[in-house]
Amino acid sequence: MKALILSFSANQVNEESFIPNKIGLTFSCVKEFEKELEKSGIEVEHICINKKNIKKCLACGKRGWGICLEEHKCIQKDDFNEIYEYMSNFDVYIFITPVYFWEMSESAKTFLDRLKRCDAFNDNSKIKGKKIICIACAGGSGNGTEETLKSFDILNHFLKTEMIGRIPVTKANFEKQKEEIKRAVNFLLHRKNQLFR
Ligand SMILES: Cc1cc2nc3c(=O)[nH]c(=O)nc-3n(C[C@H](O)[C@H](O)[C@H](O)COP(=O)(O)O)c2cc1C
Repeated sequence: MKALILSFSANQVNEESFIPNKIGLTFSCVKEFEKELEKSGIEVEHICINKKNIKKCLACGKRGWGICLEEHKCIQKDDFNEIYEYMSNFDVYIFITPVYFWEMSESAKTFLDRLKRCDAFNDNSKIKGKKIICIACAGGSGNGTEETLKSFDILNHFLKTEMIGRIPVTKANFEKQKEEIKRAVNFLLHRKNQLFR
């Protein structure tokens, strides 16, 4: 089993963080997942989408559909198609986004909009049926974590993936939510053992 973490925050070091090592909350969750997955013997890779060149969907072509509907790739020349193809090598996707204005971050929206367009109506999808875990990292109030996780439920519906875990995290509950991260990884292990029995 191989897991791919896709993270959507540029904020790797945050001097104002409550977290002692000053690492941003999204990035702290990336590190926690990496640690737990490696401990469980699950191979893991991480791509920070903010470091990639991902343009917004142009809604090009007739009636708002471009070549994405039939060719299942995007007409734009940036990093999207390569990452989309690369995703087929993994069994699990872990999406980790900060919460901005009660929503997932701009880089998350931009990437996942294009993923939906290329994959939702792809009969030969290599993403369909795979497992996803979604994490919404918010500030003190935690406002918007549910809305953000709801957007991931919609993504899960259109990609026809299997939702394994949806975890709201704030700076205040991070220590406690590490247990939820551990639980999600254990559930993955359990599913892996069922599948390969
Ligand atoms: C533009 C912006 C909007 C934000 N909106 C919210 C919000 O709606 N709800 C919330 O709880 N926190 C909000 N926050 C706080 C971030 O979610 C919080 O700082 C989170 O830890 C960011 O993740 P990071 O540490 O990986 O950057 C916002 C922060 C920014 C910069």
